[in-house]
Amino acid sequence: MTITDPEPVRILVVDDEDIVREPLLEAMSWVGYAADGARSVNEALHLLGQHQYHVLFCDLVMPDSDGFSLMEVVRARYPMLPVVVLTGHATVHLTQKAMRLGAQDFIIKPFSIRELPFIIERNLERVRLESQLREQQTEDLLFQTVQALTAAIEAKDPYTAGHSQQVAQLAVCFTQVLDMSDTDVFVLRLAGVTHDVGKIGIPESVLLKPGQLSANEWEIMKQHPVIGAEIVGQIIDLGYVAKVVRSHHERWDGTGYPDGLKGETIPFLSRILYISDAYDALTADRAYRKGMTHDQAMEIIRAQAGTHFDADLVDILEHRVLQALGPDWRTPGYVMPQLSRTTREAMSIQNPLALTE
Ligand SMILES: [Fe+2]
Repeated sequence: MTITDPEPVRILVVDDEDIVREPLLEAMSWVGYAADGARSVNEALHLLGQHQYHVLFCDLVMPDSDGFSLMEVVRARYPMLPVVVLTGHATVHLTQKAMRLGAQDFIIKPFSIRELPFIIERNLERVRLESQLREQQTEDLLFQTVQALTAAIEAKDPYTAGHSQQVAQLAVCFTQVLDMSDTDVFVLRLAGVTHDVGKIGIPESVLLKPGQLSANEWEIMKQHPVIGAEIVGQIIDLGYVAKVVRSHHERWDGTGYPDGLKGETIPFLSRILYISDAYDALTADRAYRKGMTHDQAMEIIRAQAGTHFDADLVDILEHRVLQALGPDWRTPGYVMPQLSRTTREAMSIQNPLALTE
């Protein structure tokens, strides 16, 4: 949010003294801000209901009510709106009271108009940084929650240890070579690490059975995407991730589970997850067996293109994703190379799969 954004920064100046308010408004619009003035708290509340403001300048002493009562309402209704107090007498008591009510900045009257852009920009920047920090904290919390879930299933089923991370890594690489949106990367990364979390709800007698599952046991096992989607769906903001998890065993020809979805009715991100899951399952080394070579795995996957897997994704996996990842992608501490836009464009002669569904 700067003065160069297409939508101008909008400022509300609340001061009953024309001699203060009018020059302020004039200076603000001269610098490029959209500025409105209010003579009283009531007028200010009316304007706040009409427009979205980015900074509020507020006098403390006004005829109908004082600036403190306006700040109280602003804090309750518009907590993200920075308040700059305009005051002629800055006592410690007044400053403390204003800060308790959410004031972030103070200007002592009289002041130089030249200070205005700095005052406005520092308040806009602080709001931007605070909101960035909040988003980061929310994202960190989400990933910690998800990691706790993954750890729970890995503790129960050693087969999945490391598998979820590797599936997420492969799946995210699809989003990079296809130049998909940041939202798709976010969703697929979370869906990748949580895709088998529903196995928490599968009895160990079925989950860890060494031999073949009976028909009845297999029906129980097939519930894991449903249970996983229910668990992931409980986490705030992860509704779409839950949808992707639910469909990670659906097959292109409709023979998958749990819903028997077919072709393009299967969410695109679930199709990516399914093929990433299969490639990792075939090629990863396990305690009890060595993983297949890349060629052996691709032979199996290629044979199922158009039946189990989306045939376009088989091509993309073979010719673009694995090249982009490089041979060491399972090494602990491996960091996926960031593809430059030019590289992505070169690898993506055409991108028929830009849509997520
Ligand atoms: Fe699964």
